Amino acid sequence: MERTPMRNCRHGFLAAILSLAAFTGQAAPRHVYLTWQGDTSRTITINYQTFEAAETSTVFFDTKPRNGRVSEYRQKAQGSAHQIPELPDARNIHWVELTNLTPGGTYYFIAGDAQHGFTAERKFRTLPAGSQNLRFVIGGDMNIGPDVPTLLQQSAKLSPAFGVVGGDIAYANDNLTNYAKWDAWLDHWQTNMVTPAGFTIPMVLAIGNHEVRGGTATSPTNGQFYLRYFAQNGERTYYSRTFGKNLAMFLLDSGHLSPHGGEQAAWLDAELAALKSVPTKFAVYHVPLYTTVRPFDNGGSVLGRQAWLPIFDRHHLTAAFEHHEHAFKRTQLLRENKPDPQGTLYLGDGCWGQGARKVDPQLRWYQVKAASIQHFWRVDVGPKRVEYRAVNKAGHIFDVYPANAAGAEAAEKIYSSLTQPKPPETPKPAGTKP
Ligand SMILES: [Fe+2]
Ligand SMILES: [Fe+2]
Repeated sequence: MERTPMRNCRHGFLAAILSLAAFTGQAAPRHVYLTWQGDTSRTITINYQTFEAAETSTVFFDTKPRNGRVSEYRQKAQGSAHQIPELPDARNIHWVELTNLTPGGTYYFIAGDAQHGFTAERKFRTLPAGSQNLRFVIGGDMNIGPDVPTLLQQSAKLSPAFGVVGGDIAYANDNLTNYAKWDAWLDHWQTNMVTPAGFTIPMVLAIGNHEVRGGTATSPTNGQFYLRYFAQNGERTYYSRTFGKNLAMFLLDSGHLSPHGGEQAAWLDAELAALKSVPTKFAVYHVPLYTTVRPFDNGGSVLGRQAWLPIFDRHHLTAAFEHHEHAFKRTQLLRENKPDPQGTLYLGDGCWGQGARKVDPQLRWYQVKAASIQHFWRVDVGPKRVEYRAVNKAGHIFDVYPANAAGAEAAEKIYSSLTQPKPPETPKPAGTKP
């Protein structure tokens, strides 16, 4: 009862702002961002939002720039709009999927409608469908703090084909009154994730604990912003994507809206088998199996190791990108929970905007490196080789794997200047549980 007057007051204030926006001709889409719901070479989904209900959800597009002159675009696609019930500003979220695109093609588009206005023209590229070298950037745990724009600008400078966020995105905790956090985060991405050649960088997202009301729950109603703002995979929070012929990515839910085990684990096992012929296989999820800051026996990590490690090992997962710890780490190659030259590389740990947490004074048995530093990973995938580079806020590469890749020595010098843990005294303690 106490909240009613405040809510009315806020609604009145919002209504005033919205009518002012309409009066000043600013009712055009508030955000525009790109996701995939399937084929990354032949489709893309244009996501945009409007504060007023629109009769249509429309994208005009072309392979040539038309500078926003609506009638000149040679192609048009229609989608649909939806809302988040009880979201105070009652905004409309529009999803328009473009299909039958050409792999490796450049497309120019505007989104919106004639009555309310269109976005400015933007351009994007579809993924090549073949064996071409491919670059993407990945990190997690962003939030909307002052370091986010700089880190995104450093990411975009590298002209990645897409950016992956491994959970803890805007830290709105699915509290519907926190919509301004998502607005700020979407503004950051829209403004900064544009390559030097002007291409808007699509996003690929995995869910984290801060996308969910109460941290951990199993109902989609507890992750509404995440599920309804981003057209990815309907209400299922785990899915796979392939990028060209060489890379398959498995985006997982580390127990936020879906438990690790059961259906998700069965799906992961089957999906890894189905994509067996793709040479590079990456998993992306939020809570790490190999922690950097929290104890090794942290609950979510134990669940992850129980449910997923045997599956990763069985299918020879190339690397897993882990987050949630707000620090940097690279592990040894691990298999059956011990070092093995044929094992999986674990990289992390989510510090693409959030402040870095302190790491232990001594490396853990599984770590090759760990440091308290904001960063993201640049990943280059070729037909026979993958290279990983950790990049800091200044745009400097401070870790390169494998060690014979270009720039490894220079990176080593930067890494050695960081405060970092001492080597472990002993290898893996006997009896360490998986
Ligand atoms: Fe987290
Ligand atoms: Fe986080």
